[in-house]
Parts: sequence; C-alpha cells; structure tokens
Amino acid sequence: MTSLRLRQATRDDLPSLMDLETAAFATDRIARRSWLELLASPAAAVTVVAEGPAVIGCSVVLRNARTRVARLYSIAVSRQARRQGIARLLIEDAAHRAGRAGATELRLETRFDNLPAQRLFERSGFRPFKRVAGYYQDGAEAIRYRRPVSPPHRDDPAPPHESRPCQAK
Ligand SMILES: CC(C)(COP(=O)(O)OP(=O)(O)OC[C@H]1O[C@@H](n2cnc3c(N)ncnc32)[C@H](O)[C@@H]1OP(=O)(O)O)[C@@H](O)C(=O)NCCC(=O)NCCS
Repeated sequence: MTSLRLRQATRDDLPSLMDLETAAFATDRIARRSWLELLASPAAAVTVVAEGPAVIGCSVVLRNARTRVARLYSIAVSRQARRQGIARLLIEDAAHRAGRAGATELRLETRFDNLPAQRLFERSGFRPFKRVAGYYQDGAEAIRYRRPVSPPHRDDPAPPHESRPCQAK
C-alpha cells in the first residue's frame, strides 16, 4: 500500500463517505442529511484515510463539551483495503483527537454479531461494559465498549485538521 493520507473530511468527500457507508453497513446507515450535519458540526470530527483520490476509510468522533467522554460514532474501511491496519490507524487517531479535545474516555457501540469489529476494538484497548437490547434498527443488541484516552503531550505533532501522511502495516 502506498501514499496514504489521514485528513479531515470535507463536503467534497460526501459521495465517497456515503459509498463507504453503503458498502459497509446493512442497517443504521448515516443518511445524507446527517453526514452534512456531521461535516459542519464543531462537535464532530470526520476523518478519512485517502489513498490518492480514493477514500478507503473513515471515522466519526463526537465530542460532548459537558462530559469527558467522546464517542467513536462510526468507523468503516472499504472491503479491498481491509486487514491492513487502516481501522487501527483511525482508532489511534480518534483516541488522540479525543484526548486533545479534553476527553478521558472514548466509547462506542457495536452489534453483538459483528465479530470482526469486536476483535478490532478489543485489540485496540477497548473493553465491553454494557449490553443494550434492541439498539439497532433491526432490533439487534449492541455491546458498548470504552477505553481510556490520554491528554496530549506538550510536543504533540500535527494539529488534527492537518492532512498528514500515514502508514498502515
Ligand atoms: C471492522 C472494520 C472497520 C475493520 O477494518 P480493518 O481496516 O480491516 O481493520 P484492521 O486491519 O485495522 O484490523 C485490526 C485488527 O482488528 C481485528 N480484525 C479486523 N478485521 C477482522 C476480521 N474480519 N476478522 C477477525 N478480526 C479482525 C484483527 O485483530 C486485526 O488485526 P490483525 O489483522 O493483525 O489480525 C472493517 O471490517 C469494516 O469496515 N467493517 C464494516 C463496518 C463495521 O463493521 N464497522 C464497525 C462498526 S461499529
């Protein structure tokens, strides 16, 4: 894999974000109008991994100014780019971003039957702490995960809005 870049999504990425979402999720997809709100919201960070002009992964992190808990609202990687460490990269970026925003914890939900995602999150330092019945549109149960995040170091690199090269495995 060559020349990956991690950067903040813009309005121009909307078609790619929607394609990624449609390919990755059978239910509970983020609708166009919600993407537009997320892209415009100061409380949301939509991050993409791009390989040349193609968006091959994305994450959405939501911050809540009233709590120290940030939420990894969505993460998806295109089928042809999977098992190359892209999701892990997005998670580390999300944790870093949450720490910079003052959060001490990052939380997320995933379907009880999404075993790849559960493995990914457990390998990335998340621990399950709650099950929520009937969470998804089709009635499926969610498992709620959390992981602590650290505050930024003084000599932290690139502010989150910058595009930067990155390397998966
Ligand atoms: C889940 C998903 C984001 C993983 O993306 P990815 O870029 O392939 O993940 P990574 O390559 O960073 O994998 C990191 C680790 O997660 C685990 N993992 C990822 N995919 C896995 C799979 N299909 N089966 C088992 N373990 C898996 C492995 O431990 C992997 O490490 P390894 O490759 O060294 O064994 C991707 O499969 C996806 O987009 N799925 C559809 C959308 C989705 O389910 N999102 C999460 C919903 S909350």
